[in-house]
Amino acid sequence: MSLPETVTIVEVGPRDGLQGEPGFVPTNEKLELIERLSETGLKRIEITSFVRPRTIPQLKDSEELATRLRRKPGIIYSALVPNFKGLERAMQAGIGEIALFVSASETHNQKNVRMSVGESLNGFRRIAEAAVSHGIRMRGYVVTAFGCEYEGRVPPDKVEAIVGEYRGMGVHEVSLGDTTGMANPVMVDELVRQMLPVMGETGLALHFHDTRGTGLANALAALQAGAHIFDCSVGGLGGCPYPSISTGNIATEDLVGMLHEMGIETGIDLDRLIDCARYAKSIIKRDLPGHLMDAGRICWKGMGQCGQE
Ligand code: COA
Ligand code: ZN
Repeated sequence: MSLPETVTIVEVGPRDGLQGEPGFVPTNEKLELIERLSETGLKRIEITSFVRPRTIPQLKDSEELATRLRRKPGIIYSALVPNFKGLERAMQAGIGEIALFVSASETHNQKNVRMSVGESLNGFRRIAEAAVSHGIRMRGYVVTAFGCEYEGRVPPDKVEAIVGEYRGMGVHEVSLGDTTGMANPVMVDELVRQMLPVMGETGLALHFHDTRGTGLANALAALQAGAHIFDCSVGGLGGCPYPSISTGNIATEDLVGMLHEMGIETGIDLDRLIDCARYAKSIIKRDLPGHLMDAGRICWKGMGQCGQE
């Protein structure tokens, strides 16, 4: 199998995960979750969104969260920004990396941000100019990069056109989102091979939701096609509010556990990560789909609990 030696994990649970929760998680608990995640060896955490609070009330505390967070040196704490107002708020709150987002499906973009794809991209050009001049790094999401439940299969060329726009703006990394869990390993292989020459392996991330149970299979297909960067959410928290059928990303601890068993380094302490997943479950007060919270990681000695020897 052709596989990379190391993989970078971008933890998106505090944003992508919590934005889809029916209730508001108190700021103190969000901060505790992010600070615990910061002790696992993760180097990148997406902490919140500077979107309209009325649209996503779950993240209405983004200013307070970003300003109160005790940042650990060496970790990039990023936040989602939909428009210029979002950029201004993010800058005020001391955010060093923003994530722009636009859907590859017109209908989805219209429902998500009330703009056409072209309007979103036009807005991003102004954001990018300001961000670049302030030394703020930019990542760009292509939402519904594989399929959309309103428009069906999304043509890879539509994705490539958006990726090209992002590149032109100075976005350092593009994340291809399977927002509704419609991708399969063959589609993933094809899209990764098409986008790698455009962004390079350090500029291409994959963002899988496990809505139909294909998340880890898709991650494996992306790895084999040459991808090195994966977004996941601790415990498998979350989903995008549009559409409501969307469920969480692949669980960070499940992907990290699988990668470690395959001999791929992530720099993450799996036992600490599993503890974070259990903490995430305790604050949202419902079961989460992550497997390792219950199963634990594999103990090859066959006896006792790994992590407690
Ligand atoms: N932060 C806070 N408030 C914002 C804002 C932002 N980034 N952008 C706009 N607003 C406010 C405006 O100031 C205005 O306020 P007012 O009524 O008090 O004057 C109001 O929202 C309406 O502004 P408008 O530009 O018409 O926005 P809209 O209602 O068309 O909403 C978005 C557009 C993009 C702001 C909104 O759809 C949104 O936040 N979407 C995010 C969706 C999301 O996060 N999805 C999950 C990620 S995949
Ligand atoms: Zn997502």
